[in-house]
Amino acid sequence: MSTGTPRVLPADSGIDEAAAVLRAGGLVAFPTETVYGLGANALDARAAARIFEAKARPSFDPLISHLADAADLPALVGAVPPAVAALVERFWPGPLTLIVDRPAAIPPIVTSGLETMAVRVPDEPAARALIAAAGVPVAAPSANRFGQLSPTRAEHVVAGLGAAVDVVLDGGPTRCGIESTIVDARGERPVVLRLGALPVEALVEAIGPVDVRQGSSGQPVAPGTLAAHYAPRTPLRVGTAAERDGGRQGFLAFREAPADGDWAAVEVLSPDGDLTAAAARLFDALHRLDAAGVTGIVAEPVPDEGVGRAINDRLRRAAATWR
Ligand code: TXA
Ligand code: MG
Repeated sequence: MSTGTPRVLPADSGIDEAAAVLRAGGLVAFPTETVYGLGANALDARAAARIFEAKARPSFDPLISHLADAADLPALVGAVPPAVAALVERFWPGPLTLIVDRPAAIPPIVTSGLETMAVRVPDEPAARALIAAAGVPVAAPSANRFGQLSPTRAEHVVAGLGAAVDVVLDGGPTRCGIESTIVDARGERPVVLRLGALPVEALVEAIGPVDVRQGSSGQPVAPGTLAAHYAPRTPLRVGTAAERDGGRQGFLAFREAPADGDWAAVEVLSPDGDLTAAAARLFDALHRLDAAGVTGIVAEPVPDEGVGRAINDRLRRAAATWR
């Protein structure tokens, strides 16, 4: 998809070199607990501009800034509303992105001109070590070309972005496998802008009722919520194994492979029916089906609870691209 090869360094020994690349205005792909991020110095408008170029990302789609530690938040943005502080306290480091006011230090290109900023502290030692060594907040979207499958392995980044990225830190497969949950808790009632690895149920338990915004494609507040997104190159639809079309078809199963053996490729997300394990495998399984030479993919929905809601959300958006 992209030409050339980036430098790939092991996540443990490559930190200092990768941090130097970030400080010099370069792009470093790095593992987080959710997906691989495509990082640049968030204080440097030209470095951030390179992210949009490398991903072919529309300039209206703002980036998430990543910090090494929750204690770094006040220094960057000052005081935050109590509900935001409570979520920081409870869930950082972790797969939760929070909306705060954009501080003057963050150039508008990072937030696509919004006066708000998305920020999180990833729960992945290599990511935190990298950000700490760079000594700056790191703006990072998922390290894939815009609209395509998110990367959960360094190989996915190399195949998708090639030499558009300077360095890839390889930390192996990511733990959660699905992006962070995005919450705007500045108002009276917190709003989930994007379903993600932190289940809605965990938020409700911590802070009470929340609203869940269904994706709007017109004026996207969180364009990860665009109706069509996260798409494989192969046409995908959500359905059951009873609905196979002609040709070489691939099937994405939740717990078990279909009894009918005529599928050209089958991926099973979790034989135990564990939604967390299924989320961790989702994008990897879709990357493999995409590479299997099939003409279509049928993906079975999973139970719509916990992180299963975020999985079904990703499947629906992948399918929307092909309608
Ligand atoms: O798990 C994750 O969040 C990963 C890792 C790398 O941290 N990052 C990620 O970034 O998923 P990306 O760019 O693929 O998705 C970021 C989402 C987009 O939907 C964007 O619209 C939304 O965050 N976003 C960023 N800033 C925002 C803001 N100020 N208000 C609302 N949404 C915002
Ligand atoms: Mg993304």
